[in-house]
Amino acid sequence: MRVLGIETTCDETAAAVVRLKPEGGGEILSNEIRSQIEEHAPYGGVVPEIAARAHVEIIDTLVQRALAAANVRLSDLDGVAAAAGPGLIGGVMVGLVTGKALALACGLPFVAVNHLEAHALTARLTDNVPFPYLLLLMSGGHTQLVAVRGVGEYTRIGTTVDDAIGEAFDKVAKLLGLPYPGGPQVEIEARNGDPTRFDLPRPMLNRQQPDFSLSGLKTAVRLAAERAAPLSPRDVSDLCASFQAAIVDVIVDRTRMGLRQFRTTLGHPNALVVAGGVASNQAIRRSLVRFCGESGLRLVMPPPALCTDNGAMIAWTGIERLLLGLTDDMDFAARPRWPLDPTAERSLNGKA
Ligand code: KG4
Ligand code: ZN
Repeated sequence: MRVLGIETTCDETAAAVVRLKPEGGGEILSNEIRSQIEEHAPYGGVVPEIAARAHVEIIDTLVQRALAAANVRLSDLDGVAAAAGPGLIGGVMVGLVTGKALALACGLPFVAVNHLEAHALTARLTDNVPFPYLLLLMSGGHTQLVAVRGVGEYTRIGTTVDDAIGEAFDKVAKLLGLPYPGGPQVEIEARNGDPTRFDLPRPMLNRQQPDFSLSGLKTAVRLAAERAAPLSPRDVSDLCASFQAAIVDVIVDRTRMGLRQFRTTLGHPNALVVAGGVASNQAIRRSLVRFCGESGLRLVMPPPALCTDNGAMIAWTGIERLLLGLTDDMDFAARPRWPLDPTAERSLNGKA
C-alpha cells in the first residue's frame, strides 16, 4: 500500500509518499517540505493570510516532487491523505482541496487526517509500536499527555491550562530578543548558559492531575530579564538555560504523573512516545531517556524531522485508516479545531 500525504495546517507545506512494509511500520519513499519561516520571520510569528498564500503557491510543485522522488505515478497510489485540521483554516483548505482533487481525478480513496492523530501515530511509522502507549505531544499549539489505545481511540490524560510548551519557548525567545522561531534558538543559547543562575518556578510540580501550566514560568522569565536588564549575551544564555531546566523538570514530573494515571486506569503502556516540534529539543530528549530508564518504560522518539510537521506522518495516518476501511467523502470540511479526545473537556486556553 502506497499513500500520498499532504500537510498545510501551519507554516510548513509538505507532501510525502509512504509505503506500508509487509512486516508493519512504514517506509518513507519521499518526504518533501518547504518551510515558510522566512516569510513569517519579520512578523515574529505565523501570519495566517501569508501562510495560506504561500501554501497555494507551492503545493502542486511539492506534490510533483514527492511523486518524482518516490518514483511513483498517481495511478500507482492506493490513496490520498490530507490534513483537514486542526490548524489555520486558510492553509488547511489549501491542502484539503488539493488532496480531494487528486483523489477525485484519479479515482483514489481519500482520507481526511487529524494533524494531531498524525503526530500521535508517527511512532508506529518509524518503530511499529503496538497499542496502547502513552503519548507526550509537545508542539506550538498543543501540550498533551494522551493514552493512545488504537487508531481513533484517544484518551486525554493531561493538557495545558494556558500556553503550549512550544508557545512558551517562542514567547521567551521573543522577550529575550531572539529570532523567530524561538524554540530552537532558546535551545542553542541554553547550551552555553548556567541553568542554576535564575531561580524559576516549576508550575504544577507534584500535582496529582497531570496538567501543565506555563504562562507563570514565562512571566517569571520576563521579570528576571527586566531585573537583569540591560541583558548581556551571558545573561540571555543563562536565562535560556534556567528556563529550559524548569521546563525539563515540569515535563518529567507531569509525565511521571501521567504514567501513574495510565497504569491505574488502563494498565501498562507499551512505550512512552514523544511527538511535536518541541520533541526535537535535545535537553528534553535526554531527560526523557533518563526518566524512562528509571521507570522501565520503552521510549520511542522519532527523529526530529518527523517530530516537526511533515507529510510522511499524514501519509502514514492515511495508511492506518485505510487498513481499517476508513475513508472520507468529498464534503469533509476543514476544521480549525479538532480535539483528539472529543470527550475531554475543552482546556482553558480553548486549544483542547
Ligand atoms: O509540531 P510543530 O512543528 O508545529 C505545530 O505547532 O504543530 O511545533 C513547532 C513548535 C514551535 O513552537 C517551535 O518553537 C518548537 O516547536 N520547537 C522547539 C524546538 N524545535 C521546535 N522548541 C524547543 N526546542 C527545539 N529544539
Ligand atoms: Zn504539528
